[in-house]
Order: sequence, then C-alpha cells, then structure tokens
Amino acid sequence: MAERTYPWKVAWITGASGAICGEVARRLADAGVQVAATARPSERLDALAAASPNITAFPADVLDVEALKACAAKVEAALGPIELALLGAGMYVPFDIRNIDAGGFGKTMALNVDGVLNGVAAVLPAMLNRGEGHLAIMGSLFGYAGWPGNGGYGASKAAVINLAESLKLELRGTGVDLTLINPGFVDTPLNASYDPKKKLFVMSKERCARKILEKLPKRPYEIAFPPQVELFLKTVRNLPRAASFPLVRWFIKATGS
Ligand SMILES: NC(=O)c1ccc[n+]([C@@H]2O[C@H](COP(=O)([O-])OP(=O)(O)OC[C@H]3O[C@@H](n4cnc5c(N)ncnc54)[C@H](OP(=O)(O)O)[C@@H]3O)[C@@H](O)[C@H]2O)c1
Repeated sequence: MAERTYPWKVAWITGASGAICGEVARRLADAGVQVAATARPSERLDALAAASPNITAFPADVLDVEALKACAAKVEAALGPIELALLGAGMYVPFDIRNIDAGGFGKTMALNVDGVLNGVAAVLPAMLNRGEGHLAIMGSLFGYAGWPGNGGYGASKAAVINLAESLKLELRGTGVDLTLINPGFVDTPLNASYDPKKKLFVMSKERCARKILEKLPKRPYEIAFPPQVELFLKTVRNLPRAASFPLVRWFIKATGS
C-alpha cells in the first residue's frame, strides 16, 4: 500500500547509492514511482535496487557526460520519459589553508558542479522537447556563505546555486521546472571527516528526505532547511561584508563551530 502519491511516474536519481538520495529513492519507490538509480557500479547500488521492485539500477559515472546521456536514454527506453531528475551525486573534502589540497578541490568542483551540469545536459533536451519535466538539484546552504574549512565544498555549492538561478530564469515558459535543494548538515558519510561539534542543527537522512519530499511535488524554486541555518547563512550573504565577517567570527567563537 503506497504511503502517499507523487506527481511523477518515472524519477531518475544520481547519487542514488548515497545516504540522502538513497532515502529519497526508497520513499518514492514505496509510493509507486519507478525509480532509475544511478551511481558508479557498487554493491550499495545493487542493494538499493534489490530492495524494491520499483527501483532499477542504471550505473554510470556522472563525470562522463556522454555515458550519462546514454544512461538517461536507457532509462527512458526502459521506463518511459523521465519526469523528475534529482541530481544528487556530491562530495565534501576538507579545506586547510596551510596545506591546500588542490586535487581534492578539483575533484569536489568536478563532481558537485560538472556532475550536476552533465545530468542536466542528459535530460533537459528531451524535457524541453516534451514541454514538461522537473529538475531537482542538490545544493547546500553552505553555498550561500564562505565558511572556515569549507573553501572547496562551499565554492562548489555557490556555483551550483548560481547555475540553478541561471537555469531557472531561462526555463520560464518551457514547461520544465527547477528546484534547488539546500539542506544544512545531514548526518551522512559525506561529512564524516567534519568535526561533529561543528555540525550545528544536524539532521538524519530520513528527516532530510522527508523534508525534501514534502515540498518537491509543489515544484518550488528552493527547498531549504533547517530554518535557523537558512536564516543565518542568508543573512550573512545579504549583509555588507564589513558586517558579515565580524558576525561569522563572533558566531564561530560563541558556538565553538
Ligand atoms: N550530507 C550533508 O550534510 C549534505 C548537506 C547539504 C547538501 N548535501 C548534498 O546532498 C547530496 C548527497 O549527499 P550525501 O550526504 O547523501 O552523500 P553520500 O552519502 O556521500 O552520497 C554521494 C553519492 O554520490 C555518488 N557519486 C560519487 N561520485 C560519483 C560519480 N563520479 N558518478 C556517479 N555517482 C557518484 C556516490 O556513489 P558512488 O560513490 O558509489 O558512485 C553516492 O551515491 C550531495 O550533493 C551533497 O553535497 C549533503
């Protein structure tokens, strides 16, 4: 018995073997949506697909745009038009100003930005031809403000936010909607290297998936949570820098984050 219904028959999810998108995939599948699950080949991906008759694994590397286009075409041939594309493959690498990991920075930018763009390139032409579709892109609230230790991840998510704004403006009138999903800290392997004391208002992957799926069917431009983190980081973003830098320094000292 489906726990609720969603407006999509077929959803394609990248990063589906991961914590957040895996949880979203399971919830959509439980509700009867046909889920095409993409990540690189792995036991995790196979286990996700084995868990539900409504989940099919379509392994691909999001860094390879041609492979991803072929993957999306295979999904449509097997399941029908992709009505929702949730682009969620991503990674975090610590950023240490005394020992800058240029390789890690490059990998983070490639996966978090090019990986999203490649996914858009794989599905958007067909959605535009049909005059119908929903792109959902995983960003992060940390794309709104620079933060110590976050130089690579924050820069990549700032790029994702800007890309989403550009796409949203251009998609008007096409029938294709775009939703940018900006969570705060979620307890997942992605940020296992991050100091737990600094993960303020951290939430579970289950809560994160529930929050996403509560709002996604309404096709808003942005889904951002938790509200405390959203308000703080957007305030930091919007203040003059002469005020925002002291505010962030004060906040870090006051909270030990
Ligand atoms: N966790 C948080 O606190 C948080 C907060 C805000 C936003 N987000 C964003 O939410 C998304 C999911 O995060 P998560 O915490 O659930 O991460 P996660 O558990 O580490 O999952 C990452 C996913 O990306 C996939 N992936 C990595 N490299 C890939 C590649 N080259 N090609 C295809 N897939 C690839 C991984 O699968 P394979 O490695 O098996 O291919 C995995 O499915 C990310 O975009 C992240 O930035 C996370």
